[in-house]
Amino acid sequence: MILVTGASGKTGRAVISALTRRQASVRALVRRDDQVQGLRALGAAEVVVGDLRNAQVLSQAAKGVKAIYHICPNVSPFEVEIGSAVILAARQEHVSHFVFHSVLHPQIEEMPHHWLKMRVEERLFESGLPFTILQPAAYMQNILANRDAMHNEGIFAVPYAPETRLSMVDLEDVAEVAARVLLAPEEHLMATYELCGCQAVSQIEVAEIFGQAFGRQVTARAIPREEWALRMQELGMDAYALNTLLRMFVYYETYGFHGNPKVLSWLLQRAPTSLEDFAARVAAG
Ligand SMILES: NC(=O)c1ccc[n+]([C@@H]2O[C@H](COP(=O)([O-])OP(=O)(O)OC[C@H]3O[C@@H](n4cnc5c(N)ncnc54)[C@H](OP(=O)(O)O)[C@@H]3O)[C@@H](O)[C@H]2O)c1
Repeated sequence: MILVTGASGKTGRAVISALTRRQASVRALVRRDDQVQGLRALGAAEVVVGDLRNAQVLSQAAKGVKAIYHICPNVSPFEVEIGSAVILAARQEHVSHFVFHSVLHPQIEEMPHHWLKMRVEERLFESGLPFTILQPAAYMQNILANRDAMHNEGIFAVPYAPETRLSMVDLEDVAEVAARVLLAPEEHLMATYELCGCQAVSQIEVAEIFGQAFGRQVTARAIPREEWALRMQELGMDAYALNTLLRMFVYYETYGFHGNPKVLSWLLQRAPTSLEDFAARVAAG
């Protein structure tokens, strides 16, 4: 049995699907009752409902599992508290493999959601647990928020300069690696893997690639960050997430976000999904 935390988010669902496709037994930890059915439909054998900040919930969830795949909720101010509590539960329940879903370049202090993940990696080093750390680049799936605007209006709007270059990865490739690592732990103990699908591309290139896939001109355009922030506030984004993401956009614009796809190619034993292939998949629906 493998416990997956943060199970009902987009990462959790992708990892669980990759595991259950390989007939693995999964216990999913979700926050709300109304998420249970969706996880069952993905093939989770067991679903535990509860808060990741509740130690009792964690020890119940970790009981009897062989491995834990820990996914912290996105941009959480509680990343270190949650990570430390999941590690503690893993130790108490004698879990034999702890896989942490981290992020590419957690050592960037300027991006709090990266920096906090590095603190969790540190806790893991100190825990004595057999571990593997996966460090994915930004998901190609993040672009999907712009799908309709690209398809219908030919606009790819981002809150940083269109020249900004970012490495990305297909979440499906990340999920495949997660399953491979969980199902052959002895090959991956004490390893940390950077997962990038491509060298960094500019937002102008992203727009061109999706333009080709949609069969129309798509132009990359910067939207003012204040405008983006107002829109997110209206949609209910909390102040911590808003501030963290604004800092990430400034960092991206200033330095870019660069990784290399070699490690992912080696883990997948094939070329990672390219942005062109991803865009074609999106266009095909
Ligand atoms: N997006 C990227 O490009 C990227 C790249 C690399 C790494 N990552 C990392 O991947 C991780 C997962 O991202 P994601 O976008 O898949 O996450 P997500 O969609 O935010 O999913 C997290 C899930 O955790 C649940 N949750 C939130 N607070 C909880 C709590 N206190 N107790 C129990 N469950 C709780 C949420 O439930 P509700 O539905 O109830 O809110 C949600 O279903 C993050 O740590 C992120 O930093 C993301």
